Amino acid sequence: MIDGKTAVCGLIGDPVEHTLSPVIHNTLARETGRNLVYVPFPVKAERVGDAIKGARALSIRGLNVTVPHKSAVIPFLNSVEKEAAMIGAVNTLVPEGEGYRGYNTDLTGLGRALDSEGVKLKDERVILLGAGGAARAAAFLCALRGASEVWLLNRTLQKAQELAGEVNCAVGRECMKPLALSDWERIPEGRYLAIQGTKVGLAPDTENAPIEDERFYRLIHTGYDLIYRPVCTKFMRLTEAAGGNAFNGLKMLLYQGVEAFELWTGEPVSEEQAMICYERMKKELSGDE
Ligand code: ATR
Repeated sequence: MIDGKTAVCGLIGDPVEHTLSPVIHNTLARETGRNLVYVPFPVKAERVGDAIKGARALSIRGLNVTVPHKSAVIPFLNSVEKEAAMIGAVNTLVPEGEGYRGYNTDLTGLGRALDSEGVKLKDERVILLGAGGAARAAAFLCALRGASEVWLLNRTLQKAQELAGEVNCAVGRECMKPLALSDWERIPEGRYLAIQGTKVGLAPDTENAPIEDERFYRLIHTGYDLIYRPVCTKFMRLTEAAGGNAFNGLKMLLYQGVEAFELWTGEPVSEEQAMICYERMKKELSGDE
């Protein structure tokens, strides 16, 4: 029941119509017994500063930030948490003083999702596909969590080289190895954790994978696709066909939300509450297939 004490949280982005975040946060609010609602706010690029200022004036309790504003929002913040500043992207804002402090729960959320599936990064050999916004958080996470090496493959080699250079410099070791996607055969023999961070395979492009050659998938013991629409991508199917374990990105989405909710409320969300939320998300997704 919305009343005079209801706290408002929300999401700014453009577009925001297809977001699952209201399902996450309104479910968590109900399950944790909080008087809080979460709503999407479509915000155009030229109004990001106005939106942040207005949100604080309206005492908005917390905001998520999505595409295309994750970097553009930074100049309008009071402060930015260390890892978010390192990545140069924020997705969660928490009130601080007269403004907001920025966090990146895409990074911590992916870490928690991998933990929950029993996938480790420490001393792991990783193949990361993509060098765009989604792959960026994954690249920093791998480096920060101590992956021994990360083959960073991208269609446009230059973007892989730039991201690899940035990450290596930020963590102070040469763990990122950039490569053109078409040069995947140069990856040394071995068994790798592969993280799929390109847009290839995203609905409605469900019959494609960034690499189609089945020999590539023999390198993979675990394939983690950051895509969750469809729930089983071609990359996941090829990984499984070659004998590996495959996961989609829905748990990353869940835990980036859980981490944001925890930042806004100052209290931990239990695993049981998170799983109730996860089931709701899956139900919602099954509705659009
Ligand atoms: P996102 O925020 O989803 O990461 P993005 O920043 O636009 O979106 O990045 C899209 C990623 O998908 C990039 O790594 C892109 O490769 P390029 O840097 O070469 O553009 C990758 N990508 C998109 N379409 C692709 C395709 N058909 N084949 C291979 N990679 C593709």
